[in-house]
This record gives sequence, C-alpha cells and structure tokens, in this order.
Amino acid sequence: MKVTLNNGGTAVNLYYIQSLCMTLWPGVRFSNKAANESLEPSIKVDITAEEGGVIRARATITDGKALVSIERSVAFDPAEARTPERAAKMAAGAALLAAGMHFTGYTPSWGILTGVRPAKVAADYLRASFSPAKTRSVLRNEYFVYPKKAALVTEIAALDMKLARGFYDGFCSFYISIPFCPSRCAYCSFVSYASGKLLSLLPSYIDALCKEIDEKLALIRSLGLRVATVYIGGGTPTVLSEEQLKRVLSHIERGLDVSLLSEYTLEAGRPDTITSEKLRIAKRMGVTRVSVNTQTINDDVLRAIGRSHTSRDFYRAYEIAVNSGIDCINTDLIAGLPGEDFISFSKSLDKVIDMHPENLTVHTFCVKKSSEFLRHGEQVYARIHKDARKSVDYSQIKTKQSGYKPYYIYKQKNTVGNYENVGFTLDGYEGFYNVFMMEEIHTIFAAGAGAVTKLVSRRGSDFGTQDVYIERIFNPKYPYEYLKEKDEASAARLRAEKNAKAEAFYARYWR
Ligand SMILES: C[S@@+](CC[C@H](N)C(=O)[O-])C[C@H]1O[C@@H](n2cnc3c(N)ncnc32)[C@H](O)[C@@H]1O
Ligand code: SF4
Repeated sequence: MKVTLNNGGTAVNLYYIQSLCMTLWPGVRFSNKAANESLEPSIKVDITAEEGGVIRARATITDGKALVSIERSVAFDPAEARTPERAAKMAAGAALLAAGMHFTGYTPSWGILTGVRPAKVAADYLRASFSPAKTRSVLRNEYFVYPKKAALVTEIAALDMKLARGFYDGFCSFYISIPFCPSRCAYCSFVSYASGKLLSLLPSYIDALCKEIDEKLALIRSLGLRVATVYIGGGTPTVLSEEQLKRVLSHIERGLDVSLLSEYTLEAGRPDTITSEKLRIAKRMGVTRVSVNTQTINDDVLRAIGRSHTSRDFYRAYEIAVNSGIDCINTDLIAGLPGEDFISFSKSLDKVIDMHPENLTVHTFCVKKSSEFLRHGEQVYARIHKDARKSVDYSQIKTKQSGYKPYYIYKQKNTVGNYENVGFTLDGYEGFYNVFMMEEIHTIFAAGAGAVTKLVSRRGSDFGTQDVYIERIFNPKYPYEYLKEKDEASAARLRAEKNAKAEAFYARYWR
C-alpha cells in the first residue's frame, strides 16, 4: 500500500497514518507502488496549516476504480485539552477514518486511537479536570471509540492514576530478562532461545546477567532512587534450574532490600517448568507475585499452538503456586487463538475464574511476523473476527461479574479484530509493575538480553503524556550478542558507558 502524507508543517507523522491504515486494512504492507500497480488502494493525507485556530485534513483513497475523499477539521482549544499538535492528529485521523470506513465498510472499535497505551489519552483528559463522563464522551465523539471501549479505558486510567500516586520521580522499577524457554510455542515471536544448542548458553548467560544485576542495582543506589517493583520476565524464567534461580534471586537480594518492594514478580509462565522447589525458593527470597499461564485449557488447542503442556499440567502447576504461599497469582489467557472458538475460550475463562487467581490477563491473539502461523500461510488477518470479539467482550463482562476490575491495558499491532489486551485484578492485588511500565510512571532499569532501560523523568508532573522526558538504552537483543564481548574488561566498559548515560539523564532532569 502506498501512503503519502503532507503534514502541512504539523507534528503528525507517517507512522501514525500507517498505524491507522493497519487497523483499516489488517496485515497490510507498505510500499511505494501506486494503486494500479498493487492490489491495495493508495492513501493520501493532506493537512492544512492552522487558520483561525482550526486545522483541516483531507484523506483521499483510491484503488484505481473507486475514489473517496473526505475532509475533517478540528479546532484547537487549550480549555478542552486540544493542543495544536493534538488537533492536527485528530483532524488527520478523523479524515482518514471517515474515508477508510466509507471505502471498506468497516468501523474499528478503537476509532482513531492507534497507540499502544490508550489509557494515557483518557488520563490526559482526566488530568485536565474532565469528569469521567466527559472523558468518555470525548473519546466517543472526537476519537470515534466504541462506547464500551471508551468506558473501559476511562475506568482503567482513573484507577491507574490512583495507583501511581506517590510512585513518580524518586522511584524506579527493575526488569530482568530471561529470554529462554523449554520449547518454542508456534504463535510466539518473543525473542527466546529454546533449542538444546541455544539453551546450552544459559550458564554463561546467568554469569553475565548476575554481573549486570549487581551493576544496575549499584547504579540505582548511587542515583538515590528507591526500587518500587522488580519483574523477572521472559521467555520463561522458571526454565532456570533451582541453583540458577537461587543465584539470580540472591544477586537481587544482595543489591536491594526486597522487603521494601511494593511487588516482586517472577513470570514463571509455562506450567511444564514449575516445580514446588523453585517456587519455595522464590517465596523464601521475597517474590510476591507469580504467573502461571495456560492461554487456553482446551487440550486440542494447546497441542495445535505447540504449548507442550496439557490442561492437567496447568492445574498441577497452579496448585504448586497456591501451596507456595506466594500472595498473588496471575494467569494469562489468549482470545482468538487459531482453532479456538468462543465456546472453547469461554470455558477456559470460566474454569480459570473458578480457580480465583488474583490477576488474570486476557491477550488478543496477535499475528507476529516470525510466528509459525504466518510461515504456514494461515489466513489469520480479518477485520471482523467474531470469536475474538465475543471472547474479548465476554472476558470483560464475566470478570466484572466475578469481582475483578480491569487495571491495565495495552494494544498491539496486528491483533485479530484489532482488540486489546487487558489485565484484571481482585481488589488490592493490582500488578503495579504493569501499570508503571505501561503508563511510563517512572524509570524502568532493565538487565539481560533484549532488555530496554527506559529512563523517565516527570519533573514534578504526574500521569499522562504531558511534560515527560524519556530516553531508552538498549541492551543487545539476542543472548549470543549479549555474550559476545570476549573479555570481561570490554564487557564491563560497555556496561559502564550505558550506566553513564543514565547518570547524565538524571543529572539533566532531576529536580
Ligand atoms: C512473554 S510471554 C511469556 C509467558 C510465558 N513464557 C508463557 O508462555 O506462559 C507473555 C504472554 O504474552 C502472551 N502472548 C505471547 N504471544 C502472543 C501472541 N502471539 N498473541 C497474543 N498474546 C501472546 C501470552 O499470553 C503470554 O503468556
Ligand atoms: S509463549 Fe512463552 S513459553 Fe512459549 S515461546 Fe513464547 S515466551 Fe516461550
């Protein structure tokens, strides 16, 4: 698909326009070929610089046969939290959405909200003293979000603003990456090493990781920051042996007072890696939250998606987690999995809710570029995915009826039906790390392969997108790259350079 943007000197970028195109034409790839050379239509968006406080945008779509051209205008008004930048984006989005809906006959449930973090937009209005009712109405009428999604995201933003209070500048969190798994699931495109040869890197990976944990925690101490949450994620962190797990946890314990953490998560994940001894060690060394995931309890679907475990394995692992005494158990499910219909999903959800996990996360199946499903050419892109839609709707209704509330949300590109991922919680068990990470409340330091340290300074401002300074420091993506530095001296020099970047950031933005 060819997309052209003339942004008229505003800050609207091509990525935003392309993201909206991906919603309207799922699975689309972008190229410079005009409509008559490719099977897809060509899109052109022209924004006219502000005139009398109004920004106009025109979207034109043609496939060589049909042509649709629609103009929309948005007035900027600081009293209505519509800055010129926001008004330009809204005008461009509204014009393209209207033309796209006309062209395709499809109405996306999230309107012109294309970002990963829709709660931030709701929060911007709540912060500007809009009532929840007015925020919902803005989302419906100006962002064209379905009423139930507008209500969901406003509820989450209001809760997250409360949860984040007191955790801004001065606090940070710490993410530790274990990108290894016992085997590879067919639908997954997270970077994770699973084959025997790659798993053999694990011992040297743990050595390097422990060094980085020590150094990162020393840096955090020297910056005078307090660690609010620790999250050990993957991959599958419980792929580590008991000894390896103990070693990683002991480096964390040495570097900070784990009893002062608001939350300490071990994302165990795959039931086939969970043992009583591993969770006993985790509990003893301060872990307060653990994930035990099944994605579905339908054994046929589990087999088809290559999870290498059964629903019985999940029940067994879940019982181990309950018996470990770890306070908070999270379970992940996926709606819209290939081969899973609404009935099967609703059975999985009902069964999991009967087990009363403190947290439950419902992801929408996401077609990732490297997943097996794409390689096998399965037709997974569809604008309307009835089973996923019913599953996602049901998850939001059933959890509410069962005493859960939604507490964090994120959207990914290429999810079936363009639906969202939502975390639900029982009262008092909100997963803080998920909120801090999604809403960019404070810095997240990160160690390990694929880990990204995100430095955040709000300089006294709070929730939302305004007045936030963000810088990212990337670690090498793959374990083999992470381990590439031959001698310890050059590896240490590289790590020190990265830590110096963080120090410079804090020197610049620290109040
Ligand atoms: C990084 S994975 C790690 C969890 C753990 N290794 C496991 O598989 O249970 C975190 C979660 O992302 C979700 N996920 C992974 N691939 C997905 C996909 N293609 N579409 C939707 N959700 C996905 C799953 O619910 C998974 O539990
Ligand atoms: S879904 Fe989890 S266990 Fe499966 S490959 Fe991805 S990260 Fe590993």
